[in-house]
Amino acid sequence: MKPVRHFIDLSEIPGDTLRGILAHAHDLKKNKFNPPQIFKGLSLAMVFDKRSTRTRMSFDLAMKQLGGHTVVMNMDEIQLGGAESVESTANVLSRYVDAIMLRMSNQDMMKELSRHASIPVINGMTNQSHPCQIMADILTIEEKLGPIEGKKVAWFGDINNVSNTFVQASKIFNFDLVLAVPEDLHGKAPKGANVTADAKAAAKNADVLVTDTWVSLGQEGKAIEKFWPYQVNGALMNLAKNNAIFMHCLPIHEWEEVSEDVAKSPASVIYDEAENRLHVQKAILAWCLENAGVSLQETPDSEAE
Ligand code: CP
Ligand code: NVA
Repeated sequence: MKPVRHFIDLSEIPGDTLRGILAHAHDLKKNKFNPPQIFKGLSLAMVFDKRSTRTRMSFDLAMKQLGGHTVVMNMDEIQLGGAESVESTANVLSRYVDAIMLRMSNQDMMKELSRHASIPVINGMTNQSHPCQIMADILTIEEKLGPIEGKKVAWFGDINNVSNTFVQASKIFNFDLVLAVPEDLHGKAPKGANVTADAKAAAKNADVLVTDTWVSLGQEGKAIEKFWPYQVNGALMNLAKNNAIFMHCLPIHEWEEVSEDVAKSPASVIYDEAENRLHVQKAILAWCLENAGVSLQETPDSEAE
């Protein structure tokens, strides 16, 4: 079997590889004030077709803190989608940089680009999935609560890119995931997912309560009335375990999917999650680059000169 070089879907990557990436992220976090200069001379191209704060900043800083460079472009600034094909873009970027990170709505287009690229392609979120986010979330859960295996994770609200990736992760990392979502969305959930319309049942004895915006990027104007019973508030938190944590990938709306008191409570780990994007992405970049044949040795300054 051809080794996987890209980081597009968690389900394409062996569980022990993902575990290794998390362990590396943990080490990099421990050494965050003394980052190993393993990306010296390496460059990452980033292309965005949607807004971003965390993905953009954390990938940029991940490369730079480890000695590398980045080039950031918005989709409306590059030729792709207009005058230039996906294949040509993939070939050109492969000659300039060592890896590509894409925030691209269309996952099929991302996959097409990855097939033509000779360098690793990393998924910085599509309409279908958000693997870097869920890796950061697992790192956060394990920091706060210990091994995720066997834990109950309860998701509330919409079925979207983040919940889809949680479903993939639950099978790889062996945790119990329940999706509490309005009845009419049950058919949208990935096959095999444990779905309920009963938010209280989902919250009962949960270790982790997690939600996301009810209106994902690109869905502006969508009706939200049906989501109100799924707001994560004090009443739901009280049904969970005493040491339960609240998670959200951000950006957050403290008047919709979560109440302000929960978002700002000691149970809320939302900023740890945001920070962990940085550490996890360093490790994802390192795995992708090494897998693509780049040797990531730290060069002592005396040798580099
Ligand atoms: N969580 C997340 O991906 O945030 P951004 O959209 O700001 O990158
Ligand atoms: N589901 C959200 C996640 C944002 C990080 C979106 O797609 O906008």
